[in-house]
Amino acid sequence: MGLKQKTADLKKRMREAVKGGGTKAIEKQKAIGKKTARERILAILDPKSFHEYDMFVKHAGTDFNMDKKFLPGDGVITGTGTISGHPVCIYAQDFTVAGGSLGWAHAKKITKIMDHAMKLKIPIIGINDSGGARIQEGVNALAGYGEIFYRNTQASGVIPQISVILGPCAGGAVYSPALTDFVFVVDGVSKMFITGPEVIKTVLGEEISMEDLGGAKVHSEITGNAHFYAESEEECFYQIKELVSFIPWNNEIKATPYPKKSPKTRKFNIPDIIPADPRQPYDVRHIVKAITDDSEFFEIQELFAANIVIGFGRISGQTVGFVANQPLVLAGVLDVDSSDKAARFIRYCDSFNIPLVTLVDLPGYLPGVDQEHAGVIRHGAKLLYAYSEATVPKITVIMRKAYGGGYIAMCSAHLRADFVCAWPTAEIAVMGPEGAANIIFRNEIKNAENPEEMRKQKVKEYKNKFANPYVAAAYGYVDAVIEPYETRKFIVHALEVSDHKDIIGPKKKHGIPPF
Ligand code: HXC
Repeated sequence: MGLKQKTADLKKRMREAVKGGGTKAIEKQKAIGKKTARERILAILDPKSFHEYDMFVKHAGTDFNMDKKFLPGDGVITGTGTISGHPVCIYAQDFTVAGGSLGWAHAKKITKIMDHAMKLKIPIIGINDSGGARIQEGVNALAGYGEIFYRNTQASGVIPQISVILGPCAGGAVYSPALTDFVFVVDGVSKMFITGPEVIKTVLGEEISMEDLGGAKVHSEITGNAHFYAESEEECFYQIKELVSFIPWNNEIKATPYPKKSPKTRKFNIPDIIPADPRQPYDVRHIVKAITDDSEFFEIQELFAANIVIGFGRISGQTVGFVANQPLVLAGVLDVDSSDKAARFIRYCDSFNIPLVTLVDLPGYLPGVDQEHAGVIRHGAKLLYAYSEATVPKITVIMRKAYGGGYIAMCSAHLRADFVCAWPTAEIAVMGPEGAANIIFRNEIKNAENPEEMRKQKVKEYKNKFANPYVAAAYGYVDAVIEPYETRKFIVHALEVSDHKDIIGPKKKHGIPPF
């Protein structure tokens, strides 16, 4: 065969490979609102930037007549490309080929591209759409998952790992996304569970649909396994591009700086946002937008544990991670889920050189039997651990309430915040005035001629003495009391002077966080 014939042969092989599982299987996927694996990759990457690897890999199964089957690319497409000009490694499981099930060669393709991402120090994006371990390949399929989980763990904190769930992701397969940094789901398309509805029915006699068991909403609102929820695949791809604009490509560099922009102060003006009555709630996201460049805020896990808000914004063009109590939801208390949510985000920012800005307004930890029995001690401790461990610049703004453990946990000076400012409206004390007065003036109130009057008077007394920022400022726990409109200026300066912050902790293999 000459070059011409060999080229024709190559093209024929490529045509066969890109057909995937064939027209019928593709139509079945389209009918339920899914794109093909290649379409998904091309939609995420810059036009014409995708370079496919291992297109001609053959599957390794021999049992159950598998040796007679042709599985194009062994059900997964892998390669490199760019997003906004930055390189990434990517793979997408192809459900049209043996249900995207993971056999030995399929796993080898994934682990090869993961190794590549680690060598090149660039992010890895995995699109999951699979029936799980390929049943016909037995232990080799399980081994494949093990190899992926090991690499997920090694890559954690070194390169960003992004999982996109665009189909079923069942059984042990869910643990790869769970080990990665960000999980994206799409309504009606994504399904994640360890044991499916059939098994649950057989073992427990309970009936539940796949959607109600592990659909996109469930993982965005209830379990917290998903970080981004989208109505369609297009919206999901847009979210991925948005996310990668904020994060650095690996743990040795900072996120790409953007041109500096001012906030839209007419729309988001702090004095207009904060209600005159300190007991009235407000949307803390508006405060974030009053601080960030162009008032942009990219929220993460918006639907889960909404009593704390986390996400990225830019200040003077630099990416920062925001952690903020949300007075609109449960008065912004800390509980099991909000502690988990914030702690994980803090560790992400710390791994990837993203300074942290903490906005504080909370009455403390949520009391109650449910919380105690759900492990609020263990989960709440994660937040203390994450803040104490973080060595990126840490900037804290105490806006209103900062009571008890909540004051300490929300990146106080004692957990080594580098810069702490408080507004004149800040109330920093062991507990709220009502509760405090009831305890420390119990006898005076009980024995008074008019106990209600006495209670009011004692609450006022306590408020005057402690419900302000000046006691903490007198001890130097607060560096500055500032007017709210000066908040951005304070943060800009803090970021400028902490550009070379460098802390080396005690020598140890690793700590033992309260996982
Ligand atoms: C081999 C599989 C497969 C699998 C699907 N297929 N899952 N082949 N191994 N795990 C094949 C089907 O036989 C079918 O082939 C094709 O993919 C499409 O599957 P359908 O069932 O027709 O699709 P659908 O009706 O959409 O149902 C999707 C599904 C279902 C819900 C995912 O396929 C399913 O329940 N699959 C099994 C899920 C599972 O239990 N996996 C093992 C998990 S345990 P044909 O030739 O007919 O088109 C696991 C352990 C990992 O993963 C442990 C790591 C620690």
